Parts: sequence; structure tokens; C-alpha cells
Amino acid sequence: MVTASAPGKVYCFGEHAVVYGEPAVPCAIERRATVTVERRDDDRLRVESEDLRISGFTVEYDGAGGKAPDVDAPTRLLEAATGYVDAAIEQARDAADAPDVGFDVHVESAIPLGAGLGSSAAVVVATIAAASRALDCELDEREIAERAYRSEHAVQDGEASRADTFCSTMGGAVRVAGDDCRRLGTPDLPFVVGYDGGAGDTGELVAGVRALRDEYDFAADTVAAIGDVVRRGETLIEDANAVASEETVSELGRLMNFNHGLLEALGVSSRSLDEMVWAAREAGAAGAKLTGAGGGGCVVALDASDATETALELTPACEDVFRAELASEGVRYE
Ligand code: MEV
Repeated sequence: MVTASAPGKVYCFGEHAVVYGEPAVPCAIERRATVTVERRDDDRLRVESEDLRISGFTVEYDGAGGKAPDVDAPTRLLEAATGYVDAAIEQARDAADAPDVGFDVHVESAIPLGAGLGSSAAVVVATIAAASRALDCELDEREIAERAYRSEHAVQDGEASRADTFCSTMGGAVRVAGDDCRRLGTPDLPFVVGYDGGAGDTGELVAGVRALRDEYDFAADTVAAIGDVVRRGETLIEDANAVASEETVSELGRLMNFNHGLLEALGVSSRSLDEMVWAAREAGAAGAKLTGAGGGGCVVALDASDATETALELTPACEDVFRAELASEGVRYE
């Protein structure tokens, strides 16, 4: 039996634009997905999922992944459990050259699904790490990240960047532009996360931005403008090192506000996300923006005081609010 965990993330800057080669800066946060795998005697996969927000379920299906499992559970949750775990197990089998090994897989996650906090990336990264080790195949972090990217890429029909999976594997703040991925460090930033209890469909949202970008020059310009914002932000984060000064936090917040406005122009925000963003700004946050694909889910704000947390607690659109510590450690064995 092998257990591995990997963190979720928030995007300081650059979601969606990163799909077109612009840089993005996601930061890993201390909310982890933990995956335990055990080899079976046959070639089947048994996936058991426990989500803190939705009651758990168990599915058993054959390793070929052909037939959809017949269980009564929300489609999104099922897809997360089967599609991503399937693809990750496939990567581990491929790495170990063990195509016919079956597994019992237990997923436990403190990261809400589809909410912009990188739940699927964390599950995929932790599954690849645990399953490859169970097959006596030690992968280094770069290889886990690459294989996790391939898993997401396959499940999301080619509409995935390396940002989520690289960040979850490495931990800390990272910078991703195309296949150029590196760590920026572990700046101490006062992240506050607001969650509307909903979720967005990443594939649909990414496809929507692509359609907009194909049809309107302004959308292509907006994607490029997000890249400009990220380039300014990444320098600040790189220079911030361990302790970010008030000036740095204030300028980062300003850039996050610009980034949110540009994402809104691309049509990926929502009323509840905007309400939470404005509640945070009015409470005195240095800045706030949606995080991840959008459509619903989470916003991230910068505020060292309690004011944003209090304001979000009182915002009807906000279902949950928490302070998110940066996770300096990425994937790890438990
Ligand atoms: C989703 O967490 C982030 C997006 O940029 C898609 C991706 O980078 O794969 C919207």
C-alpha cells in the first residue's frame, strides 16, 4: 500500500492566457488530495472517493476503462474519480512498463471539485506518485509533473496547460509558459479564498475563450494583456522571497484586480465571483480575482487583516471562506 498527497493551488495570475503560451503564476496551497493505492491480483481498478463536500462513493470497473461504471453519483464527481484516476494509473503503468496491473485506489480530498483550486491536478499528481512507487518505479518530480500534464491533457481533450499539474507537483509559487516551467519560491502572501459552493466546467470555459479569441481581435488582445500583467507580477513575486512587503502586496493586489477585469472581459467570471471580488475589495483587500477556469467556484484575495474574511462571511454569494497558507511542499509520500 502506498499513499501520496499533493496540494491544490490558487492562481495569482494568468489562467486561461496560459493555454495560449502566455505565462501564469499559480501558488500551491495547504489543501491536499491524498491518494492511497494497493495492487490487485487482477487488472481491474476499484476507485473509492471521499470528498469533504459530497458524500463518497465506490466504483469498480475494468482497467480498459471502456464501460462507464453504473453507479448513482453526480456525473462530475464520477468523471473526476474515473477519468482522471484512470489516466493517472495509465501513466504509472506506462512508466513502470506494467500495463496489466490492477489497483484499489482510495481518494480523499480537501479541495472542492471544479472550483478553481486544482482538485483534478492534485488527484492526478498524487495518483501517479503513489501508483508508480507501488510498481517499484521511482519517478522524479519533473517526470511526475510531465505525466500528470499528459493525463489532464488527455481527459480535457487537449485543453490543458502545464500550470496546475506543475504547481501541484512542485509546491510553492511557480511560473509556467508553454513547456517552460520553473519554481519562483515560497513568498509569504496573505491569501484569503472565498468559495461560492459552485463549480465551472473547465473544458467548456476554455473552449468559450478559444471561440471568443478566434472571432474577436479584442479577445486575442485581452489574452496578450493578461500576459503583460503576469510578467509584472512574476517579477514582484520572485523578488518578494520569504516576506512580502506591504508595497509588494499592494502592487500584486492591483495587478490581480487588472487580471480579474481582463478575465471578466473574456466571459469567464460570474455574478457570485464578482460579488465576492467586490466584497473583498470594499473590505480593504489589496486586490481580488477569480482563480482557475471561472464560471463559479473560488476567488482569491490578498489581505493580511481579518477584514476580507469577515466581509466574505457576510456576503450571501459566499458559502465558505478560509485563509490559504502557501504549500511549500508539492507532492509527497505519506
Ligand atoms: C484551470 O485551472 C486553468 C486554465 O488556465 C486551464 C489550464 O491552464 O489548463 C483555465
